[in-house]
Amino acid sequence: MEKKRIIITGGSGKAGQWIVKHFVQNNYDVINLDVKAPAETICRTIITDLNDLGQVHNALSQYSTGSRQEVAGIVHFAAIPQAYTHTNDVCFRNNVMSTYHILEAAANLGIGKVVLASSESSYGICFASEFFEPQYLPIDEEHPQLPEDSYGLSKVVNEVTAQTFNRRTGMQVVSFRLGNILVPESYAQLKANFDDTAARLRILWSYIDARDVATACLKAIEAEGLGAEALIIAADDSSSNRLTLELVEQYLPGVKDIRSPLDGRTSLISNAKAKRLLGWEPQYKLMEQE
Ligand SMILES: NC(=O)c1ccc[n+]([C@@H]2O[C@H](COP(=O)([O-])OP(=O)(O)OC[C@H]3O[C@@H](n4cnc5c(N)ncnc54)[C@H](O)[C@@H]3O)[C@@H](O)[C@H]2O)c1
Repeated sequence: MEKKRIIITGGSGKAGQWIVKHFVQNNYDVINLDVKAPAETICRTIITDLNDLGQVHNALSQYSTGSRQEVAGIVHFAAIPQAYTHTNDVCFRNNVMSTYHILEAAANLGIGKVVLASSESSYGICFASEFFEPQYLPIDEEHPQLPEDSYGLSKVVNEVTAQTFNRRTGMQVVSFRLGNILVPESYAQLKANFDDTAARLRILWSYIDARDVATACLKAIEAEGLGAEALIIAADDSSSNRLTLELVEQYLPGVKDIRSPLDGRTSLISNAKAKRLLGWEPQYKLMEQE
């Protein structure tokens, strides 16, 4: 059977490498679009600056129109992945325009499914100059997104851009509000810093293993009829060794609206919608990793 083709952006990055690997293992022909080459070559990489619509259009049309292979979709993970590493305008422009270009070119070329990397940072707590508590817990997709930083703003804008293209073309665009992404080598250091509990307060101790991000991407590309949806992609458990209820009592005492039981080390950002819509289950648990 002929392989299906998938375009992955940011496939040279931390999460992207695992996404590329997962699609290759699942018999996809993967094309990676990134400004830099990957550390390990397991698929074709086309060096592409996604800030340039001409390059995006050229790269996508080269691998979609006239090709005998069906393009299953685009997994767009390329971005500046946090606030304040670049000037605000550079972060905003890179993340917003790269996403706009991907969606514009996909629409023009008739590519019907896109996955976007959004972030739990879009809720605004992570990079706020003054810490603020969530309005309720666990946070879900209905919780207001209140960023003051240009990174969080770029993710909110991208989700709105996704809705716009869905209205324009019917394209399925699933935006993943990702927790802090951990790769296998992250766990040892995270565990060595368990005593510094407050260090991960701003991300509400959320995390997601990059391998679980990869399985969610495949599920979202293979799903049908989702329209434009934002989904929290987080592990079931938190990235702290403390009980979640204890964390809330100590660090988030103003949050009185608790909407589901906070048993054990359960996550404070809810993955229930992603599980329901994608039939996805995260496999990796913090305490089982070395
Ligand atoms: N790392 C996290 O904890 C985290 C959490 C939530 C969301 N995210 C999102 O997940 C995605 C991947 O994050 P990551 O940690 O793997 O980041 P990363 O920096 O490791 O990888 C991003 C890749 O995108 C490429 N890139 C950036 N701008 C580009 C452009 N204009 N054109 C082409 N390539 C470009 C970079 O070269 C890099 O290889 C990002 O969208 C990020 O915002 C990450």
